[in-house]
Amino acid sequence: MRTRSLIPAAAAAGAAAVGYAAVVERNWFALRRYQVPVLPPGAGPLRVLHISDAHLTPGRRRLMSWIASLEDLDPDLVVNTGDSIAHPEAVRCFLDSLGPLLDRPGVFVLGSNDLYAPVAVNPARYLWRSSSGRHDRDDPDLPWEKLRDGMTAAGWLDLNNQRGGLNVGGLGVAFAGVHDSHIGLDRYEEVAGPADAAADLRVGVMHSPEPRLLDRFVADGYELLLAGHTHGGQLCLPWYGTLVTNCGLDRKRARGLHRHPADGPAALHVSAGLGTSPFAPVRFACRPEASLLTLVARESG
Ligand SMILES: [Fe+2]
Repeated sequence: MRTRSLIPAAAAAGAAAVGYAAVVERNWFALRRYQVPVLPPGAGPLRVLHISDAHLTPGRRRLMSWIASLEDLDPDLVVNTGDSIAHPEAVRCFLDSLGPLLDRPGVFVLGSNDLYAPVAVNPARYLWRSSSGRHDRDDPDLPWEKLRDGMTAAGWLDLNNQRGGLNVGGLGVAFAGVHDSHIGLDRYEEVAGPADAAADLRVGVMHSPEPRLLDRFVADGYELLLAGHTHGGQLCLPWYGTLVTNCGLDRKRARGLHRHPADGPAALHVSAGLGTSPFAPVRFACRPEASLLTLVARESG
């Protein structure tokens, strides 16, 4: 009798949780702020805006206007770690949302979802899907070249298996990046080798924070590592946190600022991302986010 009376209550609570995850939290954008001591003594501060995983579709007007509002942060550098679009018509929307942010120094890598349109799946699949390094579709069906060209035309550096350098706020910053390891497009060997010792800062950029790639960036001397892809777990448990990272990274570092290795020399920031797949339009205990990293001088001595 008691069990029978609990069933409607449990169903109502479940429906409320899904409604909250789909309507409220998915549009409850958070700006995370971190201070990162990675600059030479006496240098900085530098303000780095890290965005990732927008998975933009043309109807997501709240997301677009929130991205546009990030210009007010006056960043010295913008880093986009991929999965920006989820629809063939979203490239223009994404570039328009960035607006004047495109006039600032910027770098980017692509994610699998910039190449391949989302397909309908069980949303709970996010909880058990693992990083395979493979993809079951051969030909990209999203206009990733248009997305890439829009960002490079603005002067942003394409770091997909490439190195580069920028002057950021008067400091020389060396970058290396890899394409998405989640679908086996990473070619670290094309960027391998010691990072530019003459630069003031060395930054490694990737979509998916696979530990084997993080290890190589650290071994080559990159001091700040930036990634997305995990969505912070997307569906998290209060007081427990992330259930899955969708890659080889441990769940305790699924989002936020950590070190790599866990007690190692490099700072690792993993963005929980701005969006979701249109076919898994829910976030729970894991708000969509962008991050402002204020880079400051290391303590000397
Ligand atoms: Fe993503």
